[in-house]
Amino acid sequence: MATSNSPFLSLIIFLSIPLLSHSEPQLSLDYYKATCPDFANIVTETVTTKQIATPTTAAATLRIFFHDCMVDGCDASVLIAPNKFNKVERDNELDHTLPGDGFDVVTRTKTALELACPMTVSCADILAQVARDLVVMVGGPNYPVLLGRKDSLASQLNDYTKDPTMSAFLDLYTPGKFDNMYYQNLLKGLGLLSTDQMMAEDPRTRPFVERYAANQTAFFVDFAEGMQKMGTIDVKTGDEGNIRRRCDVFNTVRT
Ligand SMILES: *[C@@H]1O[C@H](CO)[C@@H](O)[C@H](O)[C@H]1NC(C)=O
Repeated sequence: MATSNSPFLSLIIFLSIPLLSHSEPQLSLDYYKATCPDFANIVTETVTTKQIATPTTAAATLRIFFHDCMVDGCDASVLIAPNKFNKVERDNELDHTLPGDGFDVVTRTKTALELACPMTVSCADILAQVARDLVVMVGGPNYPVLLGRKDSLASQLNDYTKDPTMSAFLDLYTPGKFDNMYYQNLLKGLGLLSTDQMMAEDPRTRPFVERYAANQTAFFVDFAEGMQKMGTIDVKTGDEGNIRRRCDVFNTVRT
């Protein structure tokens, strides 16, 4: 059994957010109320079916969502499949470790939504909503998801992926019940990677580890807040993006 289910995620979110530029986009909770009233139900149904069939889906999707937001904002650019003419986020070394079940649940959700309300819901919003539903499904905290993101018109390589902290995060994240066991294990010296174990020793991060290990509620509250903050990083609205027909290709093929 893996000893870690790595809500490590939250700590990295917390340490990262204040360092990033933060836009104040015009998002809302009821963005699809008129144009796609069944949006939330369709996402939940699709996500539930997929997670039950494939329990690694939650972890995979969180990694993809995290990675998307950290590279040029939460705009679904990470979902673009590489071809020989473009060089995109998914094409770099690190992204090859992003598991397919995360991409698959987004594709399934997009297909279901296109049937109900064509060309209405962005892939970026789908990823944010799917990630939240999956967190809840595996026992994590519920939190509101602001909607109204547009999908990116371009996808760029970003060399932040050379950051070993990020690599550790992405290599470590494993499926399991969502709880604070990861932090408890760190305090016992059971971190799987030396970079994780260092979090329990570094005076800057030790208080987080102790707090989350001792109090799961505190971890859940902070995690929920971190996910909401992360989900609004450099969001595209209006003409800055569009609604993709398919999540893995731009509407206009660029060669
Ligand atoms: C745990 O954290 C929550 C949220 O911050 C707080 O309200 C609660 O008092 C904490 N519980 C203990 C036992 O410290």
